[in-house]
Amino acid sequence: MNPVMKRGLRNGLILSGALSIGIAASMAFWPQPAENDAAQNYASAIGGRFALTDPKGRTVTNETLKGKPFAIFFGFTRCPDVCPTTLARMADLRKKLGKDGDKFQIVFVSVDPEQDKPADIGQYLTLFGTPIIGLTGTGEQLAQIKQAYRVYAKKVPLEGGDYTVDHTATIYLMGPKGEFISTVDAHEADKPALEKLRRVIGA
Ligand code: NI
Repeated sequence: MNPVMKRGLRNGLILSGALSIGIAASMAFWPQPAENDAAQNYASAIGGRFALTDPKGRTVTNETLKGKPFAIFFGFTRCPDVCPTTLARMADLRKKLGKDGDKFQIVFVSVDPEQDKPADIGQYLTLFGTPIIGLTGTGEQLAQIKQAYRVYAKKVPLEGGDYTVDHTATIYLMGPKGEFISTVDAHEADKPALEKLRRVIGA
């Protein structure tokens, strides 16, 4: 049960207890439908249409990914910590799922098109020892997917003329129709992360 639903249930129990004099009244004030609507609105606000390019130059869209759940994450190949750590972590979580590990795809989107060409991303992803779909696109295409997933990414100049990219570190878990299911935080323990992944793949 997600936190919003849990809260809704708890609030509902408190409220129905307080209004135990009249069951009809407690039904009228049962807050769960509103809470569910809020959760539903949030869920439907994450994800959507996009079109990007994979390391072999093929176009990959939200339609292409349909049919299998996926974990999607945004970053850049020169990222010193968050990206390699997260990609290694996803590879490890997949391994821990055993034979169910191949029931979802891992998708990495580079938000640094200046530096990361599709082939570079493919090369980079071979470091993690598990199949990962590496994508990038034009500025416009990346703006579209960043907006769809509510992702923040910003170039930050460094001394000496180089730059880094500040970016959202959330992993989005999406269902087989591209629907938002849950997120995994970069620092989340394995147990809840694995539970979420099992839910996503229906294991
Ligand atoms: Ni990063």
